[in-house]
Amino acid sequence: MEDRIISDSVAPDDASLEWSVRPQSFEHYIGQEQVKHNLKIFIEAAKIREESLDHVLLYGPPGLGKTTLASIIASEMQVQMKTTSGPAIERAGDLAAILTTLEPGDVLFIDEIHRLPRAVEEVLYSAMEDFCIDIVIGKGEGARSVRLDLPPFTLVGATTRAGALTAPLRDRFGVLCRLEYYEPKELAKIVVRTADILGMEVEELAAIEIARRSRGTPRIANRLLRRVRDFAQVQGDAHIDLQVTHQALDQLQVDKQGLDHIDHKLLLGMIEKYRGGPVGVETISATIGEEVTTVEEVYEPYLMQIGFIQRTPRGRVVTPLAYQHFNLEVPRT
Ligand SMILES: Nc1ncnc2c1ncn2[C@@H]1O[C@H](COP(=O)(O)OP(=O)(O)O)[C@@H](O)[C@H]1O
Ligand SMILES: [Mg+2]
Repeated sequence: MEDRIISDSVAPDDASLEWSVRPQSFEHYIGQEQVKHNLKIFIEAAKIREESLDHVLLYGPPGLGKTTLASIIASEMQVQMKTTSGPAIERAGDLAAILTTLEPGDVLFIDEIHRLPRAVEEVLYSAMEDFCIDIVIGKGEGARSVRLDLPPFTLVGATTRAGALTAPLRDRFGVLCRLEYYEPKELAKIVVRTADILGMEVEELAAIEIARRSRGTPRIANRLLRRVRDFAQVQGDAHIDLQVTHQALDQLQVDKQGLDHIDHKLLLGMIEKYRGGPVGVETISATIGEEVTTVEEVYEPYLMQIGFIQRTPRGRVVTPLAYQHFNLEVPRT
């Protein structure tokens, strides 16, 4: 049972790469300066008081470094981290089983915390607030509630949708950290760092080009780097220059803004079928054949960030900037 509940959410083929290139300390965690600055202070203060760190909520789009940050928090606090995720904890008993394995000060990392079942969430409240849980033993007449004391621990929750968290849960986090999309300069540093760990040589211009096309997201930057490496190696060269980078990224249909064929389908679908909107998110998701939540959590945030779509009360609209990107004329209203 432990195996099922305690797992990592990353797909197996990406998992080994993600682990090998994952920064282990603040020093190697590039960017997110404000978040790092605050966390360092809170960690320092907790250490001085010899207390567990206050509960931390990390939120932001996928691939920006939430899981990485959680493990850095644990290592800076010099404690163990147990990892699980919202959907993996089906019953209150599952949560109790994990909580009772914690040592004083440990970090419990719950990924996708917005997907915790409500009954489990309610048990978590007292665990977070008073470091104890009430569990019901037995059934029917003989059922009784037993209070279980827990060691002080730090809950680190991660979510792509802070808005989907209930207020009582959100309010129990002392530290809220919102991760932002990265600047190309920061992503280029990440690309160089990853290349170095993987034993590759990457030219500065190539690193910048990969960075520009990575939608502000380290996970995408690392993935593109790996694909570019494939192209370079097939050509019998472990050295990554601008030429092979362009070739690989074009082949992968990643455009100058880092948009891929799904972004294209999304934007062009809105333009061609709905004159640029307003279009409801359900319609958009049907057009591109992706889940509504995927559209909302993965595709839309970046398209909004670069100003290609806007949310209005009547639905999503494509902006003139996106029309320009495709060399299309903006329709008159
Ligand atoms: N600030 C950073 N500096 C360097 N690498 C990073 C940074 N943030 C994320 N990464 C890399 O990106 C990958 C995805 O990060 P992860 O923490 O799994 O994102 P999330 O949990 O937010 O989806 C990791 O393998 C890590 O190597
Ligand atoms: Mg993660």
